[in-house]
Amino acid sequence: MQIPITPRDIAITPNHFVPEIEKGLLAPFASISPKFLYDPLGSHLFTAITLLPEYYPTSTEKNIFTQYRDEIASATGIGGTLIDLGAGNCQKAESFFSSLKPSSYLAIDFSVEYLQDALKKLAGKYPQILMQCIGMDFSKQLIIPDSIAATKRIFFYPGSSIGNFLSTEALQLLSQIQKQANNGGLLIGVDLMKEDSVLIAAYDDPLKVTAAFNLNILRSINSYLGSNFRVDQFRHIVKVNHAEKRVELYLEALEDLTVTWPGNSRVFKKGELIHTENSHKYTIQSIQQLLKDAGFASTQIWTDPKDYFAVIYAQ
Ligand code: TRP
Repeated sequence: MQIPITPRDIAITPNHFVPEIEKGLLAPFASISPKFLYDPLGSHLFTAITLLPEYYPTSTEKNIFTQYRDEIASATGIGGTLIDLGAGNCQKAESFFSSLKPSSYLAIDFSVEYLQDALKKLAGKYPQILMQCIGMDFSKQLIIPDSIAATKRIFFYPGSSIGNFLSTEALQLLSQIQKQANNGGLLIGVDLMKEDSVLIAAYDDPLKVTAAFNLNILRSINSYLGSNFRVDQFRHIVKVNHAEKRVELYLEALEDLTVTWPGNSRVFKKGELIHTENSHKYTIQSIQQLLKDAGFASTQIWTDPKDYFAVIYAQ
């Protein structure tokens, strides 16, 4: 078993994020970056979301992967390094180990403690694959360290996480992937635009797991900032923004309240919103155009019978 790495220059220190969090909270329209959703409890709650029948992206993507596993493997070829962006519990990548036969697996995630646990379990099961992990916030910049072999790289970006970026940011990330693929490519999952009722059920499920996941960001922020957000003073809100082609997630203040933390505070009026996430929904045409703009020359696309979701290999 290989020892997972966390390069010093990329390792995350909690204080590092204080200015970014303060800036978001003090803006006229308050926001919190979605990466703070994934603290240890948030990561588990997200795993629970993926098991909800209403959250179609995970099950639909899984069905596409299962149905087209061999076709996907012939598109990507075998061997090389499988680079998992936002690896989480590493299960999706693991399901490709037998068909893609990577010689090494690099798992990258913001939530590094959760990732290390997952990778330790995996390393015991696949001794033939070199396993490494990095705690990295690749939402601003993706740099694969020199210590990772410069062989063919298959980047793996499932779950439609690309939808969580604005189009300019998505283009920047996809271009960085394209430049670092070394004759490999990108296997990506993309959620497609569909009727509101399906989207709303997926982002506001009746068991309220998604509400708990969104509200937990306030506790996550309390631990970074030393703030005193109270989860019971907010509620989870979902909006479909047709003009921007996205689902928007917010937390709404249920009363007038003041949140304080060392050196600062913020007043929220009853009904005021904190923005936590955008989830853009693409069409086949719009995602193809974005991949082309990022420098990818060709795409192969697999979808489900309802056209809810697309899996794409771009190279
Ligand atoms: N990447 C997921 C998505 O956009 C994240 C997500 C699912 C999410 N449900 C959420 C983020 C609720 C915030 C709140 O589908």
